[in-house]
Amino acid sequence: MIDHNTVQQILDTADIVDVVSDFVALKKRGANWIGLCPFHNDRRPSFYVSRAKGICKCFACGEGGSAVNFIMKHEQLSYPEALRYLARKYHIEIQEKELSDEERQAQTVRESMLMLNEWACTYFENQLHDTQAGREIGLSYFKERGFNDATIREFRLGYSSESYDDLYKAAVAQGFNPQLLFDVGLCIPDDRGGGRDRFRGRVMFPIMNIAGKVIAFGGRTLKKDKEVAKYVNSPESAIYSKRNVIFGLHQAKREISKADKCFIVEGYADVISMHQAGFKNVIASSGTALTEGHIHAIRRFTSNVTEMFDGDAAGVKAAIRGVDMLLKEGLNIKVLPLPPEDDPDTFVRAHSHTQVEEYIAQNEADFIHFKTDVVLNDAHNDPIKRTAAITDVVKSIALIPDEIARMVYAKECSNLFGMDEQAILRQIKHYRGKYLEQWRKERQQQQAREQRLATSAGESAPADMPPAEQIPPPPLPDDFQQQPMQQSVSSTTPSVTSAASGVDVQEREVIRLIVNYGMCYLIDTEYPDGTVKPTTVLEYINNELNLDQMTFSVPLYKHTFQTALQYVGPFYNDFDAFNKQLDEDTREFIAHEMAQEIDHDPDAMDSASLISAHEHKQQSIQAQANARAHSKQMAFSSGYLMKVLCSIDDDQVRQLACDLAADNLPQLSKIHTQFAVIVEERDRLLTLVPERLYNWKNALLGIKINEVKAQIAKASADQQPSLIEQLQELYQLRHQLARIIGDRVVNPR
Ligand code: CTP
Ligand code: MN
Repeated sequence: MIDHNTVQQILDTADIVDVVSDFVALKKRGANWIGLCPFHNDRRPSFYVSRAKGICKCFACGEGGSAVNFIMKHEQLSYPEALRYLARKYHIEIQEKELSDEERQAQTVRESMLMLNEWACTYFENQLHDTQAGREIGLSYFKERGFNDATIREFRLGYSSESYDDLYKAAVAQGFNPQLLFDVGLCIPDDRGGGRDRFRGRVMFPIMNIAGKVIAFGGRTLKKDKEVAKYVNSPESAIYSKRNVIFGLHQAKREISKADKCFIVEGYADVISMHQAGFKNVIASSGTALTEGHIHAIRRFTSNVTEMFDGDAAGVKAAIRGVDMLLKEGLNIKVLPLPPEDDPDTFVRAHSHTQVEEYIAQNEADFIHFKTDVVLNDAHNDPIKRTAAITDVVKSIALIPDEIARMVYAKECSNLFGMDEQAILRQIKHYRGKYLEQWRKERQQQQAREQRLATSAGESAPADMPPAEQIPPPPLPDDFQQQPMQQSVSSTTPSVTSAASGVDVQEREVIRLIVNYGMCYLIDTEYPDGTVKPTTVLEYINNELNLDQMTFSVPLYKHTFQTALQYVGPFYNDFDAFNKQLDEDTREFIAHEMAQEIDHDPDAMDSASLISAHEHKQQSIQAQANARAHSKQMAFSSGYLMKVLCSIDDDQVRQLACDLAADNLPQLSKIHTQFAVIVEERDRLLTLVPERLYNWKNALLGIKINEVKAQIAKASADQQPSLIEQLQELYQLRHQLARIIGDRVVNPR
């Protein structure tokens, strides 16, 4: 299970236009977007997407829904899989909840490991700064390399003494379980029943996860001896998987976001030196090839990556090899070759910040161009090698997910190789097809594996759904564009209908108001204890139904209503959080506006009029800020329930909510263009909600009245008086109802 906050974050982030655009070409039409429906054989665009409502809908076949629904249907995924898909798309980390017993145990093991590593990290730092050996050997080494104190502290560099088991003894004395020391790899069990320290006599580089928790260490030897491994790293463990961890990302992430760019270097020392030289958006692959896990971690912060490497032949080869994975994941890749004798560490230390910046500006090259140059150079004029070289480059281009980018490269390649552009495009297409086939197979295997796991865990495998192509195309009405119009008109015309008309229609209308506006503020309600509380549409309807001891007769509506009620609590929590943020935002807004005001004030004014002008301005900014905050609150609360219900893990409720949200989908834009102005439904809630409730109650009463009337007709003489009394009570009730509604409703028409 994915926890509430994460789901909320996913739903808040997912932009329906963006999500659908990955599969359907959309065009703007008024306030909405339209395209060919992917769920049936659409000849004219029937598929509407509303960014404001966060839903899509085909007016020909009826398919559609929220971003989650769309992905479920289009990609044939289950609900949680669809959420994960969106989380991946928007680089949101998923927080799982409700762990099984086993998982919980694994969790506590992981937590203990993190605690131990945190303790060890501090231990190594203390060794470095506070022991004679640490200072004389470790600290002086770092200083020689040019690392300053701030850098050493920021990266939490340390020192592990030469002794056999200093750390082991200290950790056990501290109460850590020896097994845990072996599990995280700080120590290695020896045959005397104790343990020896893994990193003896090395300077320590802690490896942190994105959140800054120490999950592993790299220890560098200070010996020149070629026999000794330069680096010893922690082994893989429950908290450390080499495949997913990037050195320096914790320290770099903010700068990467800000610069929307990230440098990849090879070593710990390179990251640290560059960071100290003021290039903080830098991370290290730690000497291994980049994996998908690494890329997903990077992509949360940027999709622009520059790989730096030594300019010697080996460096170039390594760089070219590592990049294919990056291309496949859709990153924009540049390369920055350094002079042959340098690595990033030596290079930034030998040059000033400006010099480095200039070097980057002049030498950073697009990867495909760079690769083309290299392979062409290697091939000289050997025609066979040339052909191989072209294929090599074409295969790289074929990895790029963006079609336009592929086309641009094809064109450039045709110039560089002096080859026909169409021929290159054909080759790209050929390899792209092969890749897609291969990835599809890999994905199927992956899914089969997951399914086997799920079934063996006792869960039922998801029902076999027909692939989208096999869904029979529903009839396509040529007038589909009128359909939504009719629908929308009917849903906004006054519907004070006779009792004969279906109660379910009335109920549907009340549910529609709840789905679309449930968390909107409606009125202040006074409670018996004298307190006055702001009340939402949903709470108001609930209060009213409780007063009259009414409920929905259609089971799905009743269920939807009860589901909605469960979100009142979470809504107020989220709303509080939202308001806190908003307060801060408003303060910033005011401060910003005022600051600008001060900047613009001419000195020429005398101080008295200056102050009065200033006060005047202050008031107007305050008013602006209030209006701005109010409209943000409205937007938050009006969208809340719809977003939740349209994406909820309950197929029926979700479908209903999406249908109701779509009811008046393309209406606004059309009416806007035709009649210029319409009062939005949201601004008429105070009238609308009581009126629709009244219609419903009235319809119910009508049914009841008819029932009693029928009974009277059949009843014996002695039964009749009590029935007539009942009937009179019902009439009375109807009368009261009409009066109450008359009091409350300020009829706008
Ligand atoms: N590496 C490793 N094990 C080794 C050698 C290297 O894990 N035996 C990894 C380390 O993460 C190292 C990176 O590969 O940071 C790059 O190696 P290298 O360039 O040799 O190390 P530097 O970090 O540049 O170290 P230094 O400058 O101190 O030689
Ligand atoms: Mn180095």
